[in-house]
Amino acid sequence: MIKNPSEHKLTNLYLIGFMGTGKSSVGKVVAEKLGLRFIDSDVEIEKETNLSVSQIFSSLGEAKFRDLEKNFINQGHPSSDCLISCGGGLPIQSGMMNILKNKGHVFCLSATPETIYHRTKNNSDRPLLQSPAPMAKIKKLILEREEIYSQADHIISSEQRSIQTMAEIIIQKYREANDINR
Ligand code: S3P
Repeated sequence: MIKNPSEHKLTNLYLIGFMGTGKSSVGKVVAEKLGLRFIDSDVEIEKETNLSVSQIFSSLGEAKFRDLEKNFINQGHPSSDCLISCGGGLPIQSGMMNILKNKGHVFCLSATPETIYHRTKNNSDRPLLQSPAPMAKIKKLILEREEIYSQADHIISSEQRSIQTMAEIIIQKYREANDINR
């Protein structure tokens, strides 16, 4: 999908990847530089329900959260000029990766389980990682999800890279894909 030259709209950019790969931090820098509106799927769902992600998981259940993610992607965000930082499990639902790829450019950030563990261990707002054995949980989920993540248009490792460097790589690839100088 490329920009529509007659309306000068910019194709949405979807950032996906496991928890702790830096989607929000990198996404904010990229959005600012490209003049895209930054949207975080978790934040939008929290606003819509007036509940935190943890509360949704504990009181409504994970399946309901996945429905909310699906609705957000299908009808809860603008169709252009946005960078959407997607919750780590959002692209995993059946058919979702194709939907994202039809709506825009999909960039996946990756990191090793060790890095993810260190980045997330002091955080209590990710219900799936509130496990007695978080490292094992991270490895299991990555294994389950990696096939889907690998279908992104671009995969960028966040290992040994600063937020700035990651942002520059994404901006460059996005510009090439859209043929723009912005
Ligand atoms: C989840 C990732 C989280 C959030 C929820 C579930 C997942 O978002 O959507 O806790 O299934 O990987 P981040 O990837 O932004 O942490």
